[in-house]
Amino acid sequence: MVLNEIKNRRSVRKFKPEMIPDEKITEIIKAAQFAPTAMNNQAIEYIIIKEQTIKDQIFEITEPKQEFVKTAPIIIVPFTNTEKTNLATQDLSLASENIFLQAAAFGLGSVWKNCYPPVAKKVKFILNIPEKYTLINIIPIGIPEENPKPYGDFNFKSEGIHTEKYGTKFKIKNDLTRKNK
Ligand SMILES: Cc1cc2nc3c(=O)[nH]c(=O)nc-3n(C[C@H](O)[C@H](O)[C@H](O)COP(=O)(O)O)c2cc1C
Repeated sequence: MVLNEIKNRRSVRKFKPEMIPDEKITEIIKAAQFAPTAMNNQAIEYIIIKEQTIKDQIFEITEPKQEFVKTAPIIIVPFTNTEKTNLATQDLSLASENIFLQAAAFGLGSVWKNCYPPVAKKVKFILNIPEKYTLINIIPIGIPEENPKPYGDFNFKSEGIHTEKYGTKFKIKNDLTRKNK
C-alpha cells in the first residue's frame, strides 16, 4: 500500500557511505519519470552525481551549507526544459515526491535540498546544464545513518479538513488525531 511508503518517508540528513546500486537508482528514476507532468510534457531530465569533487563543489555554493550534500553517496538533480513546460515547479515537485517514495520503498533515505534561483543558476553552471533548463532542488540519497520516526495515525490532524464549504468540519470516523487523544 502506497500509504506505507508515505508514512515511512522522512527527510534523512545523515547517510552511510555505501554506494547505491545502479539498478536501484534506475528504479528511482523510473518512479520519477512516471509522475504526472503538465500536458504530459515529460520534459524532466536527471543527473546522478556520484563524484565526490562535484558534490563538494555543489556543497560550497548551496545556502545554507548542509553536510549531507557532501556525505550522501549520490545526489539526483531533476531539471526540466522551460521551452516545454510553463509549470516547471509543479512538474519537478511531483517527480521529486516519487523519488522520495521509491527511495523509501528501498529503505533508502532522501531529502529535498532546496535551490533558490541564484543557487540553481550556480548548480546549473557546475553541471553544464544549458540555460533553457530550470531546477528547484537537488536530492541527496543514501542508506540512512539516522532513522526518523515514520508517520502514523498519531500524526494525523483532523483540523483543517472541511466538507462542502470552508468552516464545516469533515467528520472522521475513529479519529485518533493528536488533538483528540
Ligand atoms: C520545498 C521544500 C524545501 C525544503 N528544503 C530543505 C532544505 O533546503 N534542507 C533540508 O534539510 N530540508 C529541506 N526540506 C525538508 C523539510 O524540512 C522536511 O520535509 C520537513 O521538515 C518535514 O519533515 P519530513 O520530510 O521528515 O516529513 C524541504 C522540504 C520542502 C518541501
